[in-house]
Amino acid sequence: MSFKEELDRKAAGCEAVLKQYLPQEEGYQKTVLEAMNYSVLAGGKRLRPMLMKESFKLFGGQGTIVEPFMAALEMIHNYSLVHDDLPCMDNDEYRRGRKTTWTVYGDGMAVLAGDALLNYAFETASGAFAMIDSAYENTDEMNQQQAVSFAARYAAVGKAMAVLAKKAGVYGMIGGQCADIEAEEKSAEEVDTDLLLYIHKNKTAALIESALMIGAILAGASAQEVAAMEKVGENIGIAFQIQDDILDVTSSTEVLGKPVGSDEKNNKATYVSLNGLEKAREDVRRLSEEAIGRLKKGPVRNLFLEQLVENLITREK
Ligand code: IPE
Ligand code: IPE
Ligand code: MG
Ligand code: MG
Ligand code: MG
Repeated sequence: MSFKEELDRKAAGCEAVLKQYLPQEEGYQKTVLEAMNYSVLAGGKRLRPMLMKESFKLFGGQGTIVEPFMAALEMIHNYSLVHDDLPCMDNDEYRRGRKTTWTVYGDGMAVLAGDALLNYAFETASGAFAMIDSAYENTDEMNQQQAVSFAARYAAVGKAMAVLAKKAGVYGMIGGQCADIEAEEKSAEEVDTDLLLYIHKNKTAALIESALMIGAILAGASAQEVAAMEKVGENIGIAFQIQDDILDVTSSTEVLGKPVGSDEKNNKATYVSLNGLEKAREDVRRLSEEAIGRLKKGPVRNLFLEQLVENLITREK
């Protein structure tokens, strides 16, 4: 199977997991449920759940405990996009080749759909606790080893929830989005490399870090291994946002499925506006190669994951 075929197959697998957890569109709140599903089911690369699953496998994870977290992270990512596109933020009308949620359902419903996806993400992820219970139906008859493993799994799910909350929050994605919109009002001199790296590390890398960390945590990786995956995620995430900034200048709306020139329109601080295209491209490669170098150290090789990161360097959408 070629890399591209494997990538498509895995994206379809992530999508199938996600669909299992999406809400039914019924009741008096039907419209917000429709808006949630409209946002999530518009396509998308499903990169974050894919990274989570590959990290889980890298550390020997087995079973389906990772699945509610894969769905939860993709819901959070989609909520961030729904809000990011709002007129009060980036004011964009297209995403993934379709009208953005606010242009179809109105601003108020898009705000609620984003909020609802965020809450539903945690409702979904917390379902992982019940999956541990059902794997150990008769806790009274557990031997000591089983009891230790039972407790360790509970602790792992708790830790994974904490990582998800932190990386999506004020010390993660929301923090980055805050600095991103404030930078629109700043002059070119006021936005230095430190500020731009804070923005990229938080608005984009934080969720990617959480994907790799949660996969590792649920597979029982050590604290040191989880920290190493956080660093890999930081590199991949910053490179991913630099490439997003590059494509905003060099691509077309047809290929991207979202408007090009959005950053210039909003006076955004981007890696390209600060450093130029050539340095931006160089740094995508350097950061990605650093991440691949770390992944090669193991604990075992995950060739698909390495290829995926390599592929992101030249991604066109
Ligand atoms: C877009 O993320 C937002 C950024 C962080 C740059 P993706 O490029 O992963 O978007 P989808 O999910 O594939 O549409
Ligand atoms: C996205 O940054 C970061 C988010 C947390 C959504 P952008 O604003 O550059 O993402 P796009 O280009 O709209 O996808
Ligand atoms: Mg934005
Ligand atoms: Mg945007
Ligand atoms: Mg962008």
